[in-house]
Amino acid sequence: MNQETNHHQNATLQQRIRELAAKKNAVILAHNYQPPEIQDIADLCGDSLELSIQAAQTPADIIVFCGVHFMAETASILSSDKRVLLPKADAGCPMADMVTATALAARIAQHPEMPVVTYVNSTAAVKAISTICCTSANAVEVVNSLEADEVLMVPDRNLAAWTASKTGKTVHAWPGYCPIHDRLTAEEVIRQKHAHPEAFFMAHPECRAEVLALADLVTSTSGMLRHARESGGTSFIIGTENGLLYPLQKENPDKTFYPASEKMVCLDMKKISLADVAACLDNLSGEVRVPADIRASAYEAVKKMIDLSS
Ligand code: 13P
Ligand code: SF4
Repeated sequence: MNQETNHHQNATLQQRIRELAAKKNAVILAHNYQPPEIQDIADLCGDSLELSIQAAQTPADIIVFCGVHFMAETASILSSDKRVLLPKADAGCPMADMVTATALAARIAQHPEMPVVTYVNSTAAVKAISTICCTSANAVEVVNSLEADEVLMVPDRNLAAWTASKTGKTVHAWPGYCPIHDRLTAEEVIRQKHAHPEAFFMAHPECRAEVLALADLVTSTSGMLRHARESGGTSFIIGTENGLLYPLQKENPDKTFYPASEKMVCLDMKKISLADVAACLDNLSGEVRVPADIRASAYEAVKKMIDLSS
């Protein structure tokens, strides 16, 4: 298919999606890593924290979540009276699958006194047995809000190590990781820094400690967007999933953004197409619902985080 035909088909589908969303009183939320054509039709693009807050507050009847499964689940936990639709059922997060409720329950049984801080990149069943949730935007604030000097953080070992370095608390890390962020090496960053010595390096806390040590700023995806928008800098190296390059460039056409590595692509975040969004709005398909007993406990952990951050 040539580019012009493709562009025309996208524009037609985008218009149809907006009409369907208005007719069905649906809000479309998209994560900052989603494909450009999906970000362009969303009511709100954001990081995990912003999207959770929006999911909790929206007056819409239906939430179409363009992201991965745990995000739709979190929206359903927060808004159980709404229909939450994930346009592609198999869009998952490999890191979220690195901790199961059974394995976490066994660990809690060994240290029942230790609070469990769970990254939102986790299943509802894991959230349900956690003390409080966090995202990359508020992990330090969440850990500091707890009285305990020792906490267990699941499932991301890199986020745990970075949070430990910022809080001075003893943070026990679950051995999970994001395969996309964890694959960025210090050598790749140093190579990019040599190629662009004037550029400011921003990294996501899911990256390894050796990479974060080279960063000028460690922050969430929306934190990177905010910094690029507000700082006087004109060139940046971006240490996160490469989908973020699209909104960065769109919001800052006069600034230059270099990916820290071409390899940082999350295929799960690229699964949803415009045709999937249109079909899911048409048929109200792809509903994600958390069983009531799990939801009630998971809600406590997510709500505590939201109350701290909104
Ligand atoms: P944030 O957008 O919250 O920084 O999350 C990154 C991420 O990996 C989500 O899958
Ligand atoms: Fe999960 Fe990493 Fe993909 Fe985010 S980028 S959805 S943490 S695998």
